[in-house]
Order: sequence, then C-alpha cells, then structure tokens
Amino acid sequence: MPIVNSIADLRELARRRIPRAIFEYADHGAYDEVTLQRNRRDLEALTFRQRVMVDVSSQSMTTTLAGEQATMPLAIGPTGLTGLFHANGEMLGARAAEAFGIPFCLSTMSICSIEDVRSAIKGPFWFQLYLMRDRSFNEELVARARDAQCSALMLTVDMPIQGLRRRDPKNGLAIPPRLTLKNALDIASKPTWALKVLFGKRRTFGNLEQRMKNTGGLTTLSQWIAAQFDPTVTWREIEWLRSRWPGKLIIKGVLDAEDARLASAAGVDAIVVSNHGGRQLDGGPSTIFVLPEVVDAVAGRTEVLFDGGVQSGQDILKALALGARGCLIGKAFLYSLAAMGEEGVTRALQILREELRISLALTGTNDVRSVSRDVLR
Ligand SMILES: Cc1cc2nc3c(=O)[nH]c(=O)nc-3n(C[C@H](O)[C@H](O)[C@H](O)COP(=O)(O)O)c2cc1C
Repeated sequence: MPIVNSIADLRELARRRIPRAIFEYADHGAYDEVTLQRNRRDLEALTFRQRVMVDVSSQSMTTTLAGEQATMPLAIGPTGLTGLFHANGEMLGARAAEAFGIPFCLSTMSICSIEDVRSAIKGPFWFQLYLMRDRSFNEELVARARDAQCSALMLTVDMPIQGLRRRDPKNGLAIPPRLTLKNALDIASKPTWALKVLFGKRRTFGNLEQRMKNTGGLTTLSQWIAAQFDPTVTWREIEWLRSRWPGKLIIKGVLDAEDARLASAAGVDAIVVSNHGGRQLDGGPSTIFVLPEVVDAVAGRTEVLFDGGVQSGQDILKALALGARGCLIGKAFLYSLAAMGEEGVTRALQILREELRISLALTGTNDVRSVSRDVLR
C-alpha cells in the first residue's frame, strides 16, 4: 500500500479502482468547467500570513454546525450516486463521519436509502432535498427523513434545471450500471468494484426506486431530472417546507449577496455558499470569491457554510478566514470512498484535520472559532 497523505493521493487511487464513467461523473463539471477550475484557482490564490513567536502548543477544532457539535468545522456534503463509488457507500460515509464526530448529509439521489443510512449509524444525520413537480413525493421524503430522526434538512436550490456535464453521455453513465461492449475492458480491470457494486445489492436510487417505477423508470439521469425536478420553485416554497419540517433548515446553492439576504429573510437556519462544485452554472464565480459578500450580506443573522474546491485543511482555514462557519466536501469524500471505502473516508478526514491543525498553528491561531481575515495577507 503506497503512503496516502493527501486528497490527491486518494483521488489517484480512486481513478485506478472504479470505472471511468463513475470517476469522471465526480471529477468533472458543467460545460467548459470554467467555474470548476475557478473554485480551485481562487482558493489557491489566497495567501496566509505566517506568524511566529506565538504559543501554539494546542489547537481547538471543535465547533457547531447548524447548531450541532462537530469535532472540526467540516461536514460531508450530499452527493448523488455515492453507492456506485463503493458498495454501500452512503452507509460507510455516514459511519466514518459519525466516528469522527462530524455531520453527514445524505442526498435525495443516493443509492442507499434514508432507512439504510438510519440502520448504519446511531446518531442523527442530515438529509438533502430537491423539490419535485409532484410535491406529494417531497412530503413522503420529508416524512421519511423525520422518521429517521434526521436533524437537519438541506434544501438544494441551485438545480432547477441541470447543467450539462459533457462526459456523462459520452461515457454512457447508466444507473444501475451496466456491462456493455464499450466499457467491458474498463470494468474487467476493476474486478473488486465489479464484484461489489455491479453485481451488488444496492445499484439504483434507494430513495426513488418506487417512484421511478411509477414514473416510467429511468431513461437517462438527466431526462429523469428534467421531468421530475420543479423549475418553478421560488422563496415562497420555504414557508411550505417549514410547515412540514419543524427542524433545522439549511439552504444550499446560494452564490449571490442578494439571494443570501432573501434566504436570511426567509428565516433559514444556515446557508451553504455553493455552486454545486462547478457542476451547474458554468461561467459563474468561484464560491470563495463570493463568500465575503454573502457573509457581509447576512451580517451575522444566518450561519454561513461553504463548499467548492475544498481539498485540504488549508482550504478550510481560508474559508473560515473569509467568514464561513464550516465547510462541506463533495469530491474529496467521493475520491476517498472510492479509493478505500470507510477506511478511505476516515483517512481523508484525518488528513484534512491534521492539515487544518498545522495551518492554524503556523498562522498563530489556536481556535477555529476565532479565525478571522487576519490569517490572510
Ligand atoms: C458527484 C457529485 C454528485 C453530487 N450530487 C449532489 C446532490 O445530489 N445534491 C446536492 O445538493 N449536491 C450534490 N453535489 C454537490 C456537492 O454537495 C457539493 O456542493 C460540491 O461537490 C462541493 O464541491 P467539491 O466537490 O469541490 O467539494 C454533488 C457533487 C458531486 C461531485
């Protein structure tokens, strides 16, 4: 086993261990991937201030995220199809997060169902919701999340329609995954994946299975999304959701100060500054670029979380410096899961925590809750 000490190492292992269609589904973004690249480039462009002669013998990394205790300012974000990256992927991800003491958010478009994840862990988890044209389906999902004692609902608002990810149709991404003439060689070179996922028990959307039967099954993922997701959603729907969900409500996909003000006025508990990891509006800004204006716009009234391009503890510290309470990871989670299952996710979390701890110390800071713009030049 090679030494694995960065998210890049886990990405490389993932690339070798899972079929190309699935790796590229995670690794790539919408259209020309301008926004995907901006997420990384703008994070990299920020420069820390190195501070010296400060007592940095211990660092505190505990905080709260949407009111919940977390051992570091990080949560695992919702990602669709996670169970195709590793058998039972969502259950393993939730387990690793629970053992580590950080929140795990399950996607509507997951392979393992809400009930599967409930059975895998003891504590609460978060559930991410997309609003569908048929609201009775959302009512069902919200009721299932409530029955599973989910502690927060995360409403994703940046996908009224789907941005085109060019690789997916070219790679013939199919759910459930299929062995075809075109991918046979590729799949033959990933026998462990094939044995556990291709011929495994959970291979399609766990939360939607029944629904898909009723709506004529899956043509392609993007066609199903176009037919089912509701493009008419406005801020009024927050009230509708509030009347059905008494718990914490997080809005994910805000990328503009004006929208942040509207979300705050709608009374949500937290917002996630997100561009869906560069998978939706290509040509839009990076998330780190808009983070300060969103933080200024909500002026402390609403908690601000951040995602997009987070691949290291240094990235987490930069987001905290610009006002985020904590970060979510998407791709870094999927790479680590595909690379080594639950152990891989634990490894990724250890790497991120250690990088964050050391970066805090070298910027002369000892508590994640007191990080400010002062740590940046
Ligand atoms: C493969 C993949 C699937 C995703 N699926 C969902 C989803 O079902 N729901 C959602 O709200 N966000 C989804 N996202 C977006 C992530 O929650 C998150 O916003 C994004 O990945 C953060 O950027 P990063 O990948 O650079 O960490 C997905 C992201 C990826 C990479």
